[in-house]
Amino acid sequence: MASLLEVKEIRKSFGSLNALDGVTLDVEERKVNILIGPNGSGKTTLINVISGFYKPDSGRVLLEGKDVTGLPAYKMYNMGLGRTFQIPTLFWKLTVLENVLVAEKGNPGESFLKAFFRRRWNRQESEATERAMKLIVLLGLGKMWNARANTLSGGQMKLLELARALMSGSKLVLLDEPISGVNPTLAHEIFARILRLRDELGVTFLIVEHRLDIALSYVDVVTAMALGKVVAAGKPELVMADPKVIEAYLGA
Ligand SMILES: Nc1ncnc2c1ncn2[C@@H]1O[C@H](COP(=O)(O)OP(=O)(O)O)[C@@H](O)[C@H]1O
Ligand SMILES: [Mg+2]
Repeated sequence: MASLLEVKEIRKSFGSLNALDGVTLDVEERKVNILIGPNGSGKTTLINVISGFYKPDSGRVLLEGKDVTGLPAYKMYNMGLGRTFQIPTLFWKLTVLENVLVAEKGNPGESFLKAFFRRRWNRQESEATERAMKLIVLLGLGKMWNARANTLSGGQMKLLELARALMSGSKLVLLDEPISGVNPTLAHEIFARILRLRDELGVTFLIVEHRLDIALSYVDVVTAMALGKVVAAGKPELVMADPKVIEAYLGA
């Protein structure tokens, strides 16, 4: 079976710095993949290339076998690739439910919101609201559905970003440091919810995360990077025991 995402020999430099120096990686459907590596190894740059925020200098990105190299981020998003950011991007004055509703694909955001405030519902809007509420509950934000985004904790904001990505119909979600700055209890809860989304909705994840103490026990595949290259990929216990991975961390 072809991989959901194939990254082939990607190169990307900033001036004389080779941030990505021939990166190849496969992401299988319905797997939780984590991308690790010391600071500056190219993880965020890779996420930016895959999601269409940066154009690679060379190499190819295939999504469901289709060449999507260099397509802009909005097109990638429309093809089912969602992402979150190291710093959440939400509509701070809108509620949790409204934030999820405006993420719906093909929904002319503003007019939809106007209808929402006027309580002028049509069928499409009711269905969207039902779908949004299901995602909100699945992500553990049920009690907060009507709270403004700016009143959520950091971890809850990350969950809300994830709900927005899923509302847009994402099959593959890229998460950049979903548990950074989140307390351990909520961090474990976030990963437990990621597994439920994989199992119940069939979502595939590619996650950049530093906090391996928490993340490793939840993931299917680890890809380790160092100096713009992939140095090891596979099952967590194998990758973490690989001398090249240990050296990358010790040498950093
Ligand atoms: N927009 C940019 N302009 C110049 N250099 C960049 C830019 N983005 C990243 N870099 C450099 O590329 C390298 C990889 O960075 P990054 O992908 O952010 O690493 P990581 O996410 O693994 O910490 C670093 O040396 C970083 O300074
Ligand atoms: Mg980074």
